[in-house]
Amino acid sequence: MIDLRSDVMTLPTEGMLRAMTTAPLGDEQVREDPTVRALEDDLTGMLGQEAAVFVPSATMANQIAMLCQVERGQEIVGERHSHMFRYEAGGPAFLAGAVVTGLPGTAGVFTGAQVREIAQLGDSEHRPRTALALVEDTHNVSGGRAWPIAALDELYDTCDELGLAVHIDGARLFNASVALDAEPDRITARARTVAVCFSKGLGCPAGAALVGRADVLAPARRIRQMLGGSLRQAGVLAGAARYALQHNIARLADDHANARILATLLAEGGLPVDPADVDTNFVFLDVASLGLDRGAALERLRSHGVLWSNAHHPGVLRAVTFIGRSEEDVRTAASRTLKALTTG
Ligand SMILES: Cc1ncc(COP(=O)(O)O)c(C=O)c1O
Repeated sequence: MIDLRSDVMTLPTEGMLRAMTTAPLGDEQVREDPTVRALEDDLTGMLGQEAAVFVPSATMANQIAMLCQVERGQEIVGERHSHMFRYEAGGPAFLAGAVVTGLPGTAGVFTGAQVREIAQLGDSEHRPRTALALVEDTHNVSGGRAWPIAALDELYDTCDELGLAVHIDGARLFNASVALDAEPDRITARARTVAVCFSKGLGCPAGAALVGRADVLAPARRIRQMLGGSLRQAGVLAGAARYALQHNIARLADDHANARILATLLAEGGLPVDPADVDTNFVFLDVASLGLDRGAALERLRSHGVLWSNAHHPGVLRAVTFIGRSEEDVRTAASRTLKALTTG
C-alpha cells in the first residue's frame, strides 16, 4: 500500500532517532533543557526573529500567537479557508475571543488592498477593531501553494502602514522557502509572529514552535503552561527538530519534484490534474468531474494499493508527497491511480 494521505504520516528516520536518543535533556518547564534552548536559538536565527517557544503542535503555536496579540472582540483577517479558521476547532473564537473574517483568495493569497478595504483601525462603538492579518504559507486548502514574495511584501507594506500585525502560519514554511528558492527569513523577518511545524514535511514525530518579536511573545510561556503545552524533557523532540533543520530542509525539493511527477503522469494519463498547480508537495484530483463519488473513488484507489484523502473542496482528492515516499513509490502510485480510476 502506498499511503499519500498527508505529510503528517512521516516516521522518524534512523538518523533522527539517534539524534533524539542522544540529545542532552533537562526540565524545559524551568528552561533547563539545553536541546530546546538550542533549537529556539536556531529558529530565531533562521527566521530573522528575536524569540522562540517550543510547543507540542502547530495548532498550539497558532493559538498562543493569537492569545499573545489579539484582544477579545478584535478581528483577525485571513484567507477564508485558512487552517486556523477552518480546522482548529474554533480556537481563535474560543480561546482569544477573536472575530475571524475570511477573505476570498487566489491560491491562498489575498492582497493588502483587500485588508485595507475592510480593516477597522480606530475605535468604533460597533465594529470590531482589526488587529492582525494571517498568512498561511504554504496554504494547505489551496493545494500547498506558496505565497509569492512580491505578494507577501505588498501585504507587509500595507499592514505596516495600517499598524496591523502579521502572523505567518508556517506549518509548511520550509516547503515555501524551498519552492521559492528564498531563505526562510526572507518570508518571515517582517512578521510579528510565525508558527512552524516539525511534524509535517520535516519528518519529526511531534513538535512545533512559535517564533516572533520578544515583546509580543513575552506572555507565550505562561499561556503555553495554561494550555498544558509545557513539556518536561522536551529535548527528545527538540533533538528531532534540530536534526530536521539540518538534514531535512533541502530534501523537500525531492518531495516537490515527486509531486510534479505524480501530477504529470496523471495528467498524461487523462485524469483531471493540472501540474501547473503543483508548487510544493500536494496534488489535487477532481474525481467529481469524472462522475465519481469521492468515497467510491477512495475505495477503488485503496483496492488498487494507493491511499489518497479527501481535500477540503467537494469532489476533490488529495495526495501528498513526503520523506519516506520515493520517486519509485510515486510512479507506482500514479500507475495504480490511473488503473483504479480509468478502468471501471
Ligand atoms: C497550515 C496548517 N497549519 C497548522 C496545522 C496544524 O498542525 P497540527 O495538527 O500538527 O497541530 C496544519 C495541519 O495540518 C496545517 O496544515
